[in-house]
Amino acid sequence: MDGPATIPAASALGNLVLRVDHAGEQGAICVYRSQWAVAGLTAPSMRERLADFLVHEKRHRSIFGAALMKRGLPRGRTYALCSAGGYVLGAVTALMGRRAIAATTIALESVVMRHLGAQRAQLAATDPVVAELIASIVEDEQMQHDRSLDQIDLDRGWLRGVSLIVRQATEAAIWLGMKL
Ligand SMILES: [Fe+2]
Repeated sequence: MDGPATIPAASALGNLVLRVDHAGEQGAICVYRSQWAVAGLTAPSMRERLADFLVHEKRHRSIFGAALMKRGLPRGRTYALCSAGGYVLGAVTALMGRRAIAATTIALESVVMRHLGAQRAQLAATDPVVAELIASIVEDEQMQHDRSLDQIDLDRGWLRGVSLIVRQATEAAIWLGMKL
């Protein structure tokens, strides 16, 4: 059945994942953008790393955005929701200061990495192009996560609360994106 050298096919799941991940990257941009702004008041020492994270997230969004355009697909339905939610989450957590900013990155990126890993595995055979795009951003997400670990002791009670809220918001955004 397998013919010689075929162009890797797009799949319905790959298309959906592209839209969800593109919206998710937009959400991450909004989180880091508002954290960067508010950190000017509450945690100036975090601004440089937040600016670095923003550069990564913009690159990730443009990778998925270019793929959407190439396939003639629209943005995901949760794009605006991710933007608004990201701004709110970023502002609220940055108001709580340096530790909450770091806890947000750790929580957000650990959920994102788990989903990216599952998506890669699911798409490796059916939509290798999207699997490759995902592979190209994983290292940045891991680095952002690891770079935030040195900032805090996550066992503090209130930071566990921040972490739980960020995890649930991130999971909800991804779940909604896959369902809508
Ligand atoms: Fe990202």
